[in-house]
Amino acid sequence: MESSKLHIPLLLILQAFIFFPSTQSASNNSNLFREYIGAEFKNVKFSEVPINSGVEFHFILSFAIDYTTSNSPSPTNGKFNIFWDTDNLSPSQVSAIKSKNSNVKVALSLGGDGVGNGYAYFNPTSIQSWISNAVSSLTQIIQDYSLDGIDIDYEHFKTDPSTFAKCIGELISTLKKNKVISFASIAPYDDDQVQSHYIALWKSYGHVIDYVNFQFYAYDKGTTVSQFLKYFYTQKSNYNGGIVLASFISDGSGGLAPDKGFFTACSRLKSEGKLGGIFVWCADDSKGLGFKYEKQSQSLLAISH
Ligand SMILES: *[C@@H]1O[C@H](CO)[C@@H](O)[C@H](O)[C@H]1NC(C)=O
Repeated sequence: MESSKLHIPLLLILQAFIFFPSTQSASNNSNLFREYIGAEFKNVKFSEVPINSGVEFHFILSFAIDYTTSNSPSPTNGKFNIFWDTDNLSPSQVSAIKSKNSNVKVALSLGGDGVGNGYAYFNPTSIQSWISNAVSSLTQIIQDYSLDGIDIDYEHFKTDPSTFAKCIGELISTLKKNKVISFASIAPYDDDQVQSHYIALWKSYGHVIDYVNFQFYAYDKGTTVSQFLKYFYTQKSNYNGGIVLASFISDGSGGLAPDKGFFTACSRLKSEGKLGGIFVWCADDSKGLGFKYEKQSQSLLAISH
């Protein structure tokens, strides 16, 4: 009788070694699902998007931009304005979706590809003035809407990488220090100029960046499963130590499509312990597909209770 008691801790120790032989192979899978919403004014609402209770779900409002809202928008040096569909995605709708689903958080994304008829440039007048304007204007918007995080999606630049890194890194650090946000992500894609800016940011401020929404759909349309996996491993090493999410675009214009092997690639990454989550661009376009692939993505990620 005495000896059987002694065996229990021994068994636990043995099991620990069998299942976790070293920290190297510990799984880095996550059940995070994220979706951009509101950039295309197609009247999509949070409440239309299916939400699986087994995932951590982030809506990302697109976009807040530091440009004027006039007919020919011009840069405002860090004074952000809202450019998403506020009729359908208002502060009260944010509160409603969050109170109905305890697993939902809402973020906003900065920048994006275009504004008016041109590109949305990252174009600060000076580092300190940009940071100070960005902190105050974004704090106001984030508090008005009860948001939880920010995403960085500038795609065009009038500055060098180190200025971008300093401005964005200090913005994220200050919003976190002030407890205005609890998480931040970046959304780079495979383009030399874009990567030089985001990798500079990652090198100096990677410790305040929680997720990498890498735009894998910016690769060629017709990307194969093996190409996709290769791209994923490359970006995981570029953003070393980061939580990298797999992604698809719902209008089918680029990358590995959901009906052409995207989920095969995700299952493979999950079996390797490397799937940091899935994100989708965007709810506005998925609406016409009945959010079919959002459901499939979340089933793949969900932790069943
Ligand atoms: C999980 O992340 C840690 C820290 O970045 C890394 O050392 C480890 O190799 C990763 N495991 C897998 C399965 O990718």
